[in-house]
Amino acid sequence: MLISFDRIRKIYRLSEIEIKALDDASFQIEEGEFVAIMGPSGSGKTTILNILGCLARPSSGEYLLDNKNTEQMNDRELARLRNSKIGFVFQNFNLLPRFSALENVELPLVYANVGKKARESLSLKALGEVGLSDRTGHLPSQLSGGEQQRVAIARALVNNPPLILADEPTGNLDSNSGREIMKLLHNINYQGNTIIMITHDQGIADQARRLIALKDGKIVKRDG
Ligand SMILES: Nc1ncnc2c1ncn2[C@@H]1O[C@H](COP(=O)(O)OP(=O)(O)OP(=O)(O)O)[C@@H](O)[C@H]1O
Ligand SMILES: [Mg+2]
Repeated sequence: MLISFDRIRKIYRLSEIEIKALDDASFQIEEGEFVAIMGPSGSGKTTILNILGCLARPSSGEYLLDNKNTEQMNDRELARLRNSKIGFVFQNFNLLPRFSALENVELPLVYANVGKKARESLSLKALGEVGLSDRTGHLPSQLSGGEQQRVAIARALVNNPPLILADEPTGNLDSNSGREIMKLLHNINYQGNTIIMITHDQGIADQARRLIALKDGKIVKRDG
C-alpha cells in the first residue's frame, strides 16, 4: 500500500472561528492507482493534497506514505520524503518566471544534489517525453498555457517519483490542451506511477479509475 489516511482531521483556527477543513477522512491508495478527488469549493480537496504532499501536517489522525508514518518525522525528513517520492502539478503551473523551461525542469534535481551534466540530460529527456524538445530555452512567458503545464509535468516527473499529485491540472486550459495533459497523465500512470488528481470536471474525473468525493471536509463517496 502506498498511502494510508486514517481518520485525518485538519482544523484551522482563526481567532474565535474553527474551520474543519478535513473531518475524519480515511482512505487507502495502492501503488499504480489513478484517483480523482472531487467536491465543491472549500470541501477540503487542496487540504488533502497538501497533507498527501507533506506540505502540511494533519491536526490529528495518521498518514502513512510508503509504510512510513509521517507523524514521527521532523520537517527535514518530511522534505526529503517529499523530494524523493512526490511530484507536484498545480492549476497555475507554478513555474519560475525567470528560469527557462529546462531550468524549471532541473529544479527538483538541484534539490536532490544531482550534478549539472546529469541534471541537464535527465531534464532534456523529460521535456522530450512531454513533446517540448524544441522549447527548452523558452521562458514560461514565451510558452502557451498547455506548454507551461507540460513543462510543469516534466518537472514533476524528472526525478521519477512514484507519486504524482495534481491540483486541477487542466483547470486553466482549453479543452484541447486539457486533453493533451490528460493523455500525458495516463501515460505516466501506465508506466506505473500513482496519480492523485483534483478536478472540478466530471468528464476528467471519469477518466480516473477511482473517485474520492468530498463534502464539508468529509468523504462522501469512495469508489473502488
Ligand atoms: N490556511 C488556512 N487557514 C484557514 N482556513 C483555511 C486555510 N486553508 C484552507 N482553509 C479553509 O479550509 C477549507 C478547505 O479548503 P481547501 O483549500 O482544501 O478547499 P478546496 O476543496 O481545495 O476548494 P477549491 O475547490 O475552492 O480549491 C475552506 O473552508 C477554507 O476556507
Ligand atoms: Mg483547492
